This record gives sequence, structure tokens and C-alpha cells, in this order.
Amino acid sequence: MHLTKPLFLSLALLTFSTSVDASSKAEELIKTNCASCHILTVPTPEMIQSLKAPAMEAVVFHLKDAMNNNNKKAKAFIIDFTQNPDVSKSVCESNKVAKFGVMPSLKGKVSPEDLATIADYMLETYPTKKFVKMITEMLANGKLNSLKGSPFLMNQDALPHVTKILLENWDKGSLGLTTEQKEKLLVVRKETMSGVKKIKKALQILEEAIIEMSVDGEDLAKIEPKVQEVAKLKAQATMIQLKCLKDSIEILNDEQMEMILPFWDS
Ligand code: HEC
Repeated sequence: MHLTKPLFLSLALLTFSTSVDASSKAEELIKTNCASCHILTVPTPEMIQSLKAPAMEAVVFHLKDAMNNNNKKAKAFIIDFTQNPDVSKSVCESNKVAKFGVMPSLKGKVSPEDLATIADYMLETYPTKKFVKMITEMLANGKLNSLKGSPFLMNQDALPHVTKILLENWDKGSLGLTTEQKEKLLVVRKETMSGVKKIKKALQILEEAIIEMSVDGEDLAKIEPKVQEVAKLKAQATMIQLKCLKDSIEILNDEQMEMILPFWDS
């Protein structure tokens, strides 16, 4: 019998370890039955637009979160959901279902035993550290906005706008903003917004120019001043945001500051 080298090696490895055996079987199952829709790797921003379903990383990330890391419950959910998918059961964010439609049932296509094997594998494998890091950054960076820009754009909402948080809580009685405070805060907001807006516009023009020059194979020495200018503008934007923060802190009392802090990283 003729064995190719890789096949021989993998057979040799498999006979050594049953756990390798089990997980490679699971890997095979998930590749055959799920990967056509759920990609099994961490999606890159460019991929996100063309996905047919949420990445498996994201599915398990949300699932574990929704089930408070109770893997037994999560496993039961996966086995049930894949056979009897239903919007009302869905734990993913509702925009996912709206975007992708409800998952088609795999009943009769994949056996419950195989689904159990797949579920174990999913819960063991995902989410990877790499994905958690990415999603945490994305969430902190103003909800997916970071995906839209070109690679070297800063996230233009990097710092929380205190005034934006305040506007969202403007009339909450518990915050107790006085009319005078509101007037002052609106002035701060206006100054902040117009400053940031100007910078954003300038950044956009610069960055488009940089991309164009770089695609055209322009000398780096000619591109560099523009890159330096981008860095300068970003520093200015940061200063504007810090000033806004400082001004707002001066207007608010300690109690009010404390109340808005929980909204800080949302
Ligand atoms: C034909 C495409 C397709 C295949 C194949 C597929 N899925 Fe899905 N799946 C989806 C879509 C679309 C969603 C998102 C909408 C939803 O939640 O129903 C989804 C969502 C899920 C969810 C999240 C449910 C929720 O909303 O909380 C789980 C868990 C899941 N799939 C597991 C699997 C597993 C395991 C397999 C393989 C055995 C699989 N899927 C195969 C399309 C697919």
C-alpha cells in the first residue's frame, strides 16, 4: 500500500493520542458541516462584509457570555439550536439575525452525536485570545467604527465624549443637571464638535492623498510630511477631547461625575 508522507504522518500521530483523534474528528466535522457559513478563523475587517453567518469565534463568544460561561448549558443550546433554529431562541444580537437571516436547520443532515462532538469542540476552542482581544478593542473603539477606516486611521471617537454621554442622560432626574450647567455644557460640546469636525475633514483629505501617493509608488520621502501632518492632527484632536473632558469636569459636581462614569466605556 502506498501512503503519502503527510497521510502517513497524520496516521502515525493519530495512533499515538486518542485526544488528538477526538479533536481532529471534531475539527473535520465542524469543517464539513459548519464552515461553509461560519468561518472558523478570526475574521479580518475586510472579510466581515462578505460573511454568510457570524464567525464561529463570535458565535461562541456571545453564547458563553449569554450563558454566563456555563458550558453545559451552552452545549445543550448548540445541539438544540442547530436542529431547531428559531429567532426567539437566538442569543446573538438581533442585528445578526436581521443581517444573515435565521440559520437553516441541520436536522437529518448532521446527527445529534456529531453535533455534540462539534459543540464540545467549539466550546473548547473558541473564543481564542486573539479574537477576545480584537472584539474588546472594537467595542471600546466606538462599536465597529474602527473597521471602516483605512489601516492607519485612528479611531476618531477614541476618547469618550463626556458631552455625548451627558446628552444621552440629559434629562435623567437622577443626574440633576441645572439649566445653568446645561447651558455651559452645550457651549463645551459645540466647541469640541467644531474642533473635531475640522480635524476629521483635514485628516480625510490627507489620508486619501497618502493612499493615492503610496499606490502610485511615490517616494516615501515625499509621503512622509503628510504622515507627520496626520500625526499632528491626531494629537490636536486628542487635546481637544482632553480639554472637553477638563471643561466638563469643572462644570459638573463630584456626584454627577461619578454618575456618568459607568457610561464611560460604552
Ligand atoms: C447554511 C449556513 C449555515 C450553516 C451550514 C451553519 N450555520 Fe449556524 N448560523 C447561520 C446563520 C445565518 C446564523 C445567524 C442567525 C441565527 O442566529 O439564526 C447562525 C447562527 C448560529 C448560532 C448562534 C445562534 C444564536 O443566534 O444565538 C450557532 C450556535 C450556530 N449557528 C451553530 C452552528 C453549527 C454548530 C453549525 C454546524 C454544525 C452551523 N451553525 C452551520 C448559518 C449557518
